[in-house]
Amino acid sequence: MKLLLTGVSGLLGINFAQEMMNEHEVIGVDRGKLVNAPFKVLKYDLLERNSVESILDAAQADWIVNCAALADLDVCEEEPDLAKQLNTDLPRRFARACKIRNIPFAHISTDAVFDGQKDGYYSEEDPPSPVGVYSKTKLDGEWAALTENPKAIVARVNFYGWSLNGRRSLAEFFFNNLSNNKSMSGFTDVIFCPMLVNDTARTLVKMLKRELKGLYHLVGPQAMSKYQFGVEIARRFHMRESDITPKSVNFSGLIAKRSNNLWLSTRKLSTDLGEDLPDFSTGLEEFYAQHEQGYPQKIRSYQQP
Ligand SMILES: NC(=O)c1ccc[n+]([C@@H]2O[C@H](COP(=O)([O-])OP(=O)(O)OC[C@H]3O[C@@H](n4cnc5c(N)ncnc54)[C@H](OP(=O)(O)O)[C@@H]3O)[C@@H](O)[C@H]2O)c1
Repeated sequence: MKLLLTGVSGLLGINFAQEMMNEHEVIGVDRGKLVNAPFKVLKYDLLERNSVESILDAAQADWIVNCAALADLDVCEEEPDLAKQLNTDLPRRFARACKIRNIPFAHISTDAVFDGQKDGYYSEEDPPSPVGVYSKTKLDGEWAALTENPKAIVARVNFYGWSLNGRRSLAEFFFNNLSNNKSMSGFTDVIFCPMLVNDTARTLVKMLKRELKGLYHLVGPQAMSKYQFGVEIARRFHMRESDITPKSVNFSGLIAKRSNNLWLSTRKLSTDLGEDLPDFSTGLEEFYAQHEQGYPQKIRSYQQP
């Protein structure tokens, strides 16, 4: 199949492309970061007028996954108009264009549409309550995509993995500090459900193959604190977990407000796929194996030197 991925230089996009390029024909959309990618790249700024139609004409894809976003929470607070254009208007444009052309479309959303005030285990039925510009514009993007195109998949995700710049994911934050013997904090009161990004990509393709539609939680089946996640990374890489100090997010100094408990139920997705979602320990084992096999360096070699 021909798989079109927007945001292919991002944490999800680059790993998605890497994961799928042997099985499918991958076409990525990038605005200039990638130079040596081993898959086809279309160079576009997605905010340009008619870019969506032009990309769809050029790619002639069988499946489209929109991984592009303004995903930096603090930049979203500083630039709400840009956040709206990328997180709300862009999925609307793709959803509409894919519906007209009858191309299966998946849009990526976030676990952060919830405020985390409930004791967790949010289902797709629970009312969202975004706490900042990022989560509000992402929630509007879900609604826009599904209103324009009820056959679209909207997947609320949370993932970790190796990125193009080596600093994009929480796992890299812990790994980089631990490797440099630097001490760091891990939040004990922020709960999430991390999934290895390669598992996210593989599961999304299963969803496309099964022709699922609508809203799904696509996160890891195990919830843990960000501190615990750091400890798991330290243990797997045989590094010093005592370098990670447990801390409350209330004393973090971060600009954008964060939700505390993003434990999401994945029951709907595992029921509709007829299988359990990949568990945390298997994903972490793969993350470690990727490191041992030079995967981070391979990915980084695709970008401008
Ligand atoms: N990371 C997580 O754990 C997490 C958690 C929840 C939800 N999500 C969602 O997952 C999706 C992917 O996130 P990510 O972490 O992979 O984000 P990311 O690393 O920030 O990647 C965003 C991508 O969008 C591209 N993009 C932004 N503006 C563009 C424009 N005007 N034209 C063309 N491309 C543009 C970026 O290109 P440049 O590189 O050129 O800027 C980049 O490739 C997003 O929808 C995000 O909201 C992520």
